[in-house]
Amino acid sequence: MTPAQDRFIHAVRMALGDKAVITDPADIDPWLHDWRGRYHGRSPAILAPADTAGVATIVTLAGEHHVPLVPQGGNTSMVGGATPPDDGSALVLSLRRMNRIRRLSAEENLVVAEAGVILADLHAAALSAGRRFPLTLGSRGSATIGGLAATNAGGTQVLRFGTMRALIAGVEAVLPDGQVHDGLSALKKDNRGYDLDHLLVGAEGTLGIITAVTLRLVPQIAARAVAWVGLASPQDALTLLRRMEVTTQTIESFELLPHESLAAVLRHIPGTRAPLGQDQPWHVLIEAVATDPAAEPPAVLLERLLAPALADGLVADAVIGASETQAEEFWRIRDSISAAERASGPAAQHDISVPVAAMPRFMVEAAAACDAAFPGTHASGYGHLGDGNVHFHVRAAPGADAAYWYAEDAPRVTRFVHDLVTAAGGSISAEHGIGQMKRAELERLSPPARLAALRAIRAALDPQGLMNPGKLVTLAPVAPTP
Ligand code: FAD
Ligand code: MLT
Ligand code: ZN
Repeated sequence: MTPAQDRFIHAVRMALGDKAVITDPADIDPWLHDWRGRYHGRSPAILAPADTAGVATIVTLAGEHHVPLVPQGGNTSMVGGATPPDDGSALVLSLRRMNRIRRLSAEENLVVAEAGVILADLHAAALSAGRRFPLTLGSRGSATIGGLAATNAGGTQVLRFGTMRALIAGVEAVLPDGQVHDGLSALKKDNRGYDLDHLLVGAEGTLGIITAVTLRLVPQIAARAVAWVGLASPQDALTLLRRMEVTTQTIESFELLPHESLAAVLRHIPGTRAPLGQDQPWHVLIEAVATDPAAEPPAVLLERLLAPALADGLVADAVIGASETQAEEFWRIRDSISAAERASGPAAQHDISVPVAAMPRFMVEAAAACDAAFPGTHASGYGHLGDGNVHFHVRAAPGADAAYWYAEDAPRVTRFVHDLVTAAGGSISAEHGIGQMKRAELERLSPPARLAALRAIRAALDPQGLMNPGKLVTLAPVAPTP
């Protein structure tokens, strides 16, 4: 610990008490590694304020003592965004104690949740008030509202409701100079210049610490049905989605997975079983919902929409979950892909988007190009086809040494994939953010105007560079990774 850190931690303890400063290494350690186990950092203490005033005190003191902070919620980042630097220069600022729901209004369809509220708890609170917060993802048991807002998270319901940004009606945050920005009022119209709330959304903690968010709620579901469909190709999957969308606006999820993702789940996740009798090259999970109890039941709707596709061969096989338990089993397969992939060995992961109509062809051509360029590896994509966003993973050749793969091969594979994405007019980060994993790639591939603007905004709000250093974009250009 540096003398400046020592003085800073002492000052925080004096101002906020012992509960706000965690120093036991056993309590700190789990929060120093990312979910995928790719990044390992150090932090001499974890700061855990109980309220917005406490966050403001910490940020002000950090500025005075020139100590960088790494905001952290559930630590489920897929890009090493919440992992502190490994030189111990920064302190983790955990928002997990700030887990109150300040206000929930069913009449206004709004909820004000503190940054540390876990997504699953927010779901439960909304349901108990007869409403629903629609955004969901596999990490809902750990991911927090602050982290979801800071990454503009997506998930499996984006098709109908959009990403976090679309569901955020206001943000409260402590800015890098310690001042509190209160944007929680959820005004429908507000044109007082730059939209600070939405500048903070997706900023990954580089422009300030989000302390609370006003979120939009939607009506509760009266009924839902989940279908599991087998088909020949991503293009057939998109054709099916387009056909269904012509008939109904109530398709919430349309998640694509290849044979190998299903196989990985069945191999590594206990209690899972294949939904269809015969294996298929590609699979789609489709969820349809009804909010009006008098509406056509979603299961009937799905049956009606899938029957012609089965008849004309667009769909090879399909099953509609016969019960809520079976629907949950289908979702468990989908939500376990990341865990199954993690257990499958070294891979280079990419979270990419291209225009929706171009994605099926992109997936097939990019996978073939990768397999040819890197013999022995295997590329495939899964995820949010209806959003034009898939997780395009390139698995190392069987028996590959993990350390060598991550140091030498994976960066080359990643540059290859990102070049293809960029040539297709796409994004190298559709929903996970940049964090530390993609910072050099963002700097390599961003048009100069975009990069200059990102740097200028960061420098203007945080001239000392104390907010989540080393993440998203650096103030000065970095050397490209070898
Ligand atoms: P953390 O991981 O703690 O932090 C994420 C980033 O936000 C970091 O840069 C951190 O510094 C910053 N941050 C955290 N809290 C604050 C705050 N209060 N103020 C300012 N900055 C803050 N993501 C998707 O988008 N879609 C998915 O479908 C999806 N599925 C996932 C499935 C699994 C199994 C896992 C492990 C992850 C998945 N993710 C997904 C990634 C991850 O869950 C999201 O990025 C999520 O938003 C992170 O929330 P968190 O609370 O864990 O944030
Ligand atoms: C998902 O959609 O499952 C996630 O975003 C996580 C992943 O990339 O594996
Ligand atoms: Zn995803």
